[in-house]
This record gives sequence, C-alpha cells and structure tokens, in this order.
Amino acid sequence: MKRTIKPSIPERSEDPLIEVSLTVNGEAVTRKVSMRMLLSDFLRHELGLTGTHVGCEHGVCGCCTVHIDGKAGRSCLTLAAQANGADIRTIESVATSETVLHPIQQAFKECHALQCGFCTPGMVMNILSRFEEPGPLDLSDEGIRDMLSGNLCRCTGYINIIAAVRRAGELTGRT
Ligand code: FES
Ligand code: FES
Repeated sequence: MKRTIKPSIPERSEDPLIEVSLTVNGEAVTRKVSMRMLLSDFLRHELGLTGTHVGCEHGVCGCCTVHIDGKAGRSCLTLAAQANGADIRTIESVATSETVLHPIQQAFKECHALQCGFCTPGMVMNILSRFEEPGPLDLSDEGIRDMLSGNLCRCTGYINIIAAVRRAGELTGRT
C-alpha cells in the first residue's frame, strides 16, 4: 500500500541544518534537517512514513530495517544526512497494490506470523532483501533462522515466522 509522503514542515530544531535529497519509495524528496537526525526519524517524522518502527534505537532489534540502495539496513544507525543521494525503500512500498499484499506479507498473514506486529515491518524488509538477492535461497530451518537472526520479536516465539518465510518461498517460487 503506497502512503503519501507529507509535505515539508517548518524546522524547529536549533541544531545546524543540512539539506538532504534522496529518493524514498520512488519519490524524490528534499528536506532541511538537523545534521544529527536519524534516518528512522526522518522517515517517520519528516515524511510521515510511520510503517518503519523504532524499538531499541541502537541497532539490535531490527524493527527499523529499510532498504538503503537495495540492501537491508538499520535506519536507526543511519543519519538522514548520510542517506543523502540514496535510494530508500520502506514497508509502505512493498504491497503489490492497495488491496493485494506482497507474497511475504501474505505468507505472514496465512501463517499467523505476527501478534502485536511491531517487529513485522522490519522482518518483512529484511526477508525481502534476502529474497531479492541473486542466487539460491537457503530455506532450510537453519537458513531461515540465519535470515531472521537480525530481527527480534517479543510475541510469536518465531515458529510461525519461520513457517511464513518458507511459505513465502512457495508463493514466490523460490523453494
Ligand atoms: S530500532 Fe533500529 S535496530 Fe532497533
Ligand atoms: S509480533 Fe510482537 S514483537 Fe513481533
């Protein structure tokens, strides 16, 4: 489901400002932001893309995972200024259409792979990155556990998430 990016809002920070220009979900955006603003805060507060969640804010939980130039990355460990010129993809761009989920999202739904859902956007972005890598995909239990090792979930116990990754493999023909 594509979500509209918010228009620019007046800057309230007293920090030094820097202009950043980047592409977010295929749309070019330019904003003047604090030099120390995190990419996660930029996406959520400047652009209103609140599907990117923030948990630990120090690189542990994976909730804030987005794609940075085609690779999964922690938006809480990246400054907005560092992302200048980058191509960013967030969970808001993943669904096939307004009414059709991406196969990975569909698999999560079918396998009951979420409970509160807080970790889910980061999980999906991480899994999607691995599915989009060229070459074979290891969908053994061990391979899936390795794939998920950078994302923490407090609710599901992981069993259903592992099942969902395997189901996503079926839905995308990657088995
Ligand atoms: S919020 Fe970024 S890794 Fe936890
Ligand atoms: S579903 Fe609640 S943290 Fe993962």
